Amino acid sequence: MSDIKLEKFCSTNRSMGERPPDYPNGWIPVLESQDLKPNQTKPVSAFGYELVVFRGPSGAVHVIDAFCPHLGAHLGIAAKVGKGRCGNDCITCPFHGWQFRASDGQCTLIPNLNDNEINTINAKLTVWRCIERNDVIYVWHHYDGADPHWEPDIISQIEDKQWQCVARTEYSIDCHIQEIEENWTDMAHFPAVHVPLFYPYDQLSWWQDLLQRSISFNIRTNWTTVNEPEPYNAMASIDALTTVFGYDTWAMNFQFKQVGPATLVISYESPLAGGVSGALIQYVNPVAPNKLRFILRNYCSQGFRSRIFAKVLNYFELFMIERDMIIWNNKRFIKTARYTKLDRPIVKFRRWYSQFYADKNYNVLDW
Ligand code: FES
Ligand SMILES: [Fe+2]
Repeated sequence: MSDIKLEKFCSTNRSMGERPPDYPNGWIPVLESQDLKPNQTKPVSAFGYELVVFRGPSGAVHVIDAFCPHLGAHLGIAAKVGKGRCGNDCITCPFHGWQFRASDGQCTLIPNLNDNEINTINAKLTVWRCIERNDVIYVWHHYDGADPHWEPDIISQIEDKQWQCVARTEYSIDCHIQEIEENWTDMAHFPAVHVPLFYPYDQLSWWQDLLQRSISFNIRTNWTTVNEPEPYNAMASIDALTTVFGYDTWAMNFQFKQVGPATLVISYESPLAGGVSGALIQYVNPVAPNKLRFILRNYCSQGFRSRIFAKVLNYFELFMIERDMIIWNNKRFIKTARYTKLDRPIVKFRRWYSQFYADKNYNVLDW
């Protein structure tokens, strides 16, 4: 789909109505590892904050508040990263040269002041907990400042480099983060949004109309349950079947794993082309109210056939996501949704997802 079409279907001035808190608690993906070299800084916006992510000479990643406590310079722009006085990772403000220790944010050096004077000033940066996992840098966000009680799962094929990232796509989407995360449990939308070859807004030519009636994607879903030992994970198994002229042709099983509030791992294994495996991973950063940064990374096993397979899959994935985006960019939450029996998985998911909201009194199903 072209950008023009997406713009056409994006309403930016709609009222958002009542909705859940804008930023869930948990590990929020803010940057891809490939975008941060040693001694480099990157400004990022996440859950309403301006942050700076930097990689020290040790290779470790650190995340701090963006603005220097002295006179407010932005530490993501022209700041210097290196080994500080104590020999550990430090960041030096570009404005007056104050130096801060990465581990706790303490100011350890102010040019032309002695240690006593520096200690008296006791300047400190806010340091955010972060973790680098599966090629992505996450920051822990918790409304009440609580410590992390879980971590995103390690995907060994990514960490061990058995899988390679063959495609990555980024979108800016205007909706609440939960709209995206719950989409895969919304069974009733699959036949309307994802099964037809062409979407209803398309003006079909005769041959498109013929194709539309000949080919369809049937999606059967088995949404299981929250994985009890790991309550921050939710799982589903989805079978996608392509039908041509009424005949079933290509069946593919996808394992969906929601990891916390902002990561969805869709993994597959197929005997086609000698056996290929991989995963499509969706990362969502709620940058500001109703503003999301959505990144899709597509991994596959080594080999030419696997790459081709993954690229084709990526094409169809984007095709489907852009259909969802037309809905996401224009919808709003309804305070009292009219659920039917078909919506049971989405109701279950909403209950599960409410664990990521700080306000425990928030009635997640009373929208
Ligand atoms: S503003 Fe950062 S050292 Fe002055
Ligand atoms: Fe969808």
